[in-house]
Amino acid sequence: MPSLTLALADRLPKAELHMHLEGSLEPELMFSLARRNNVSLPYENEDELRQAYQFNNLQEFLNLYYSGMSVLLTEQDFYDLTWAYLERSHQDNVIHTEVFFDPQAHLERGVAFETQIDGIFRALTDAQENLGMSFRLIMSFLRHLPEESAFETLELALPYLDRIDGIGLDSSEMGHPPEKFERVFKQCRDLGLRITAHAGEEGPPDYVWQAINQLEIQRIDHGNRALEDAKLTALIADKELTLTVCPLSNKRLRVVDDMKQHPFPEMMAKGLKVTINSDDPAYFGGYVNDNFHALINNLDVSPEQVLMLVKNSITGSWLSDVEKGHALARIESVWEQERHAFS
Ligand code: ADE
Ligand code: ZN
Repeated sequence: MPSLTLALADRLPKAELHMHLEGSLEPELMFSLARRNNVSLPYENEDELRQAYQFNNLQEFLNLYYSGMSVLLTEQDFYDLTWAYLERSHQDNVIHTEVFFDPQAHLERGVAFETQIDGIFRALTDAQENLGMSFRLIMSFLRHLPEESAFETLELALPYLDRIDGIGLDSSEMGHPPEKFERVFKQCRDLGLRITAHAGEEGPPDYVWQAINQLEIQRIDHGNRALEDAKLTALIADKELTLTVCPLSNKRLRVVDDMKQHPFPEMMAKGLKVTINSDDPAYFGGYVNDNFHALINNLDVSPEQVLMLVKNSITGSWLSDVEKGHALARIESVWEQERHAFS
């Protein structure tokens, strides 16, 4: 039975709502860009780099994540990075994707905002034309930097707001609560931007409360630790707030010790609107379908739950209602072909 459920997860059309473009930088592309741009890397080769991908916590990962992106310098680099992810996720039947980028991490290295967004956006529009994939772009603020830096970044983004759909909040969570960014997120909302934030990945339930009440988020990225607070969990369920859950990331960053202990079953039992995502696929060992596999291979996941997860990815996305209707119809059509296998 799991093999049928795995095949179902592979085949179903889906959206991905939590994926950092810089986290999709595979070692092969990193080395090829390093050669192209004459950047030296502190590793001999791709294998040696891969061996360094062993993390005890979020910060240990972030240290490698920020050093890895030093190879991204030109518009073409951002294009190649984005295109590689889009082609790969297309193979997983991702029909819509909402991707994060971290402009401050590149501005700090002297890469202009325009260079970043031009390359990313050109790849996204190429994927729309050539692969039939739709997309939204999320500009993420780095929470380890001061709010002032987020305000400056927003200022730089103003000429490009027609390409940016939403704002996120990522990087080192502990010690950087959402309330630190209350004013800049208010300005983003006033500009008509959608809001999401990483909360409850390593941080306590209070950070999730703050993200909801002070940032007025429309989605929660991760949200695992919300489960420690029954009132908060009930509120998230009541409000039907989408959780962008990332199983392989949780395992690699030791948010969970073992995939068999992942809180996915509890999230589902509590009626939370869960979606499955890859977070930083090049660093955590897999793209979106690999994340479905990790759950199905280690927990009791029914075909109906897989169906619900992919439907949640569409209804929790920032597509229009009409677009959501089309995507849901595509899901239903594949489900109709596959469901007999389970009866
Ligand atoms: N930036 C990239 N991946 C992240 C994660 N999992 N948590 C916080 N910030 C990130
Ligand atoms: Zn993330």
